[in-house]
Amino acid sequence: MMLKKLKVLIIKERHLKFFKKIYKKYSDFTMLPEDIFINNLLLIEKFRPLDGCVVECGVWRGGMIASISELLGTSRDYYLFDSFDGLPQAKEVDGSAANDWQQDKESPKYFNNCKAEMIYAERAMEMAGQKNFYLIEGWFSDTLPLFNPELPIAILRLDGDWYDSTMDCLINLFPKVKKGGLIIIDDYYAWDGCSRAVHDFLSKGNLEHKIRSFNNVCYIIK
Ligand SMILES: C[S@@+](CC[C@H](N)C(=O)[O-])C[C@H]1O[C@@H](n2cnc3c(N)ncnc32)[C@H](O)[C@@H]1O
Repeated sequence: MMLKKLKVLIIKERHLKFFKKIYKKYSDFTMLPEDIFINNLLLIEKFRPLDGCVVECGVWRGGMIASISELLGTSRDYYLFDSFDGLPQAKEVDGSAANDWQQDKESPKYFNNCKAEMIYAERAMEMAGQKNFYLIEGWFSDTLPLFNPELPIAILRLDGDWYDSTMDCLINLFPKVKKGGLIIIDDYYAWDGCSRAVHDFLSKGNLEHKIRSFNNVCYIIK
């Protein structure tokens, strides 16, 4: 029994070391802090046996999705959706913190309104050795309705911050996630608009899906 526990501990330690190495590799390509970044990978690893494609909406410089692809390998398709022109204007529904953040253009946390050129995300995916990836540029409301992946979505990561962005993703992509698939909602604890969109989507659709948490990473299992 003791030996079994020790083996589990050693395996966990090796995983953490590997994930820390991945974070270091992509730290200039992601806004996520190291602990949350690693918790995303730990959660996603549990869903590795699910086949299907991987989608991230709101990729910025692509560091998170590139790391996910290092974990899940080269045999899947990866879809990266972003305006590559920063965030849309926050609205009242997004809460005062979001509106204040967007007005404070001098803040070190402003990140040029989260604007990153597409070339960064392309470079991050190439650093991960991926060939099967697609960069889809434009507003979610324009690009997502046209999205028709060959296989259902196994892992969907939403990182679009605001109410409308999150709602556009849920309306268009939730039906395309396979049963048992993982949906990570990055901004659920950060921005009011995001959590409102999740609640509205689930209640308007009369859906029974639970909002779960893994070490401060919010997720839903379809
Ligand atoms: C916080 S950043 C994403 C961070 C990224 N996942 C990482 O690893 O650091 C949010 C991104 O969402 C994009 N975005 C937000 N709402 C959008 C929308 N409605 N349409 C397209 N892109 C959107 C922004 O351009 C920005 O790149």
